[in-house]
Parts: sequence; C-alpha cells; structure tokens
Amino acid sequence: MDRRTRHNRAAWETASQKHVREYQELLDEARDGSSLVAREEELLRPLLASAPTVVHLQSGHGLDDVALVTAGARRVVGIDFSEVAATAAQRRADELDVACRYLIAALPGAPLRDGCADLVYTGKGALIWMPDLGAWARDAARLLRPSGHLFVYESHPMVPLWAWDPDEPRIRPDRSYFARGHVNDTFPANGATEWQATLGEIINAVISAGLQILHVAEYPEPFWRPGGVDAAAWRGQLPNTFALLARQPPTAPPTAAPPR
Ligand SMILES: C[S@@+](CC[C@H](N)C(=O)[O-])C[C@H]1O[C@@H](n2cnc3c(N)ncnc32)[C@H](O)[C@@H]1O
Repeated sequence: MDRRTRHNRAAWETASQKHVREYQELLDEARDGSSLVAREEELLRPLLASAPTVVHLQSGHGLDDVALVTAGARRVVGIDFSEVAATAAQRRADELDVACRYLIAALPGAPLRDGCADLVYTGKGALIWMPDLGAWARDAARLLRPSGHLFVYESHPMVPLWAWDPDEPRIRPDRSYFARGHVNDTFPANGATEWQATLGEIINAVISAGLQILHVAEYPEPFWRPGGVDAAAWRGQLPNTFALLARQPPTAPPTAAPPR
C-alpha cells in the first residue's frame, strides 16, 4: 500500500467511527427502507431479478448491501479497507439476518476468486479513492463471470468543482476538472487525498478492462447532501451523479493490458 493510500485508510478509520456512533440509526434505516436511490433501482431491477451473487467494492456502512439483498440479490460480499466500517456493517447484517459478508482488504486486489460475481456493485463516493482506475477496472472485470455486470452509481467527476453557495452555482477557483486530485476538505477530510478522473477516463478504463458498456447516464441530483447545506449547484442545472452499466462479454477475453 503506498503512502497516500495508507494515509487515506487512516482517515477512513477515523471517519468510519461515525458508522459506530450512529449504529442504531443506521440499523433502523437498513431495516425500514432501501438506501438504493431511484436511479439505481431502475437500472438494477432487471439484474436483481435473477438473484445474483454481488460483490460490493468499498462497501462502507453496508446499507446498500442490505438493500441489495432485500431487492433480490442472493448474497453480497462487501470489501472495504476500513476495519471499523466492515465490522460495523457485519454486525448490522448479522443482526438483521441478511446474507452479507464483509472482507477487510485494500482495493484493487479483492481477495476473491476470478469469476465469482454475477454483479459487481460500487459507487457513492468510491472511485475518488482509486488512484489507478485501470487497475480498479481490471480487478472488477476479473471478479465477473462471463455475462456478469458491473454497476457504478457515482458522484459526477465535475462535483469537486462545485462551490456550495446557496444563492447561485459557482465554480471553485482552486479546483480543475483536469487535476489529478485534491485534498478532501469535507468528509472524510483529515488530509485524505481524493483522486480525480474525467468521465471519459472512467469510461475508457472500463472499456480497456474488456467490458462492454451498456449504459451511461448523467443526473442533476447529488447522492449526498450534507446536513444543513442547500447548494445552488444541486438544484438541477449541473451534473452531480452518473450511472454506468457494463457487461463482461459472454466469453471473457484475457484482461486487456493497460495502454502505455
Ligand atoms: C464514501 S465511502 C462509500 C462507501 C459506500 N458506497 C457507502 O455508501 O457507504 C468510501 C469507502 O471506500 C473505502 N475505501 C477507500 N479507499 C479504499 C481502498 N483503497 N480499498 C478499500 N476500501 C477503500 C472507505 O473505507 C469507505 O468506506
């Protein structure tokens, strides 16, 4: 693990204490409703109809895993490098008696066998922690059985540029769409380095891993609205989230080498 990933892990171990402090609220939320947003439900419905085995990369508090099982998944394996997050997620899943199992591991490099997943699910603040999207996409592709799907519902790569001014949307002068990264100043903060990639780079990483892109969509609403903030940038004029659905070809070719 490189220095910045180690630093990010430490930042997440601290930040994930929130999942422990708010254990009961999150348990109630997981029991009483679905954390999947309508955009996800619409795209995932046909995939969940066949009771897939799901691998969730960067599973965090695990609420999405409970929702995926409730919506039809046979089982979910969540992977996260935060022991605090994975332990709290496992405790909640056990208490709710849902088929979710958690592994503590740094990604990419999921400690699971090739082709074990019908569906690899990730997003909601996951990709920004991956400095090498090519390696991330190859790991996701490796986990998928032939004809298995990769589903990403993520913060739009333009989001680091949006100021949170309530009166009108503004671009932060200290950010660039084409920057490689910046230090996170919201959550988990603590000096964590957030990596940036353009939408084109994300799509090309998935294509280079040998997956077929089935659908890409950009949406105006954010997936995360920190309490007390009502930013003008979230009111419909600007992209704040995107979804990507890709498929492993029926006969998977050897994983493509990264471009030089
Ligand atoms: C914003 S959270 C999103 C998680 C999940 N989608 C959710 O909604 O709870 C990002 C998660 O990625 C995890 N993470 C960040 N970098 C990672 C890495 N290199 N390997 C594994 N997990 C990582 C963090 O511990 C954190 O739980």
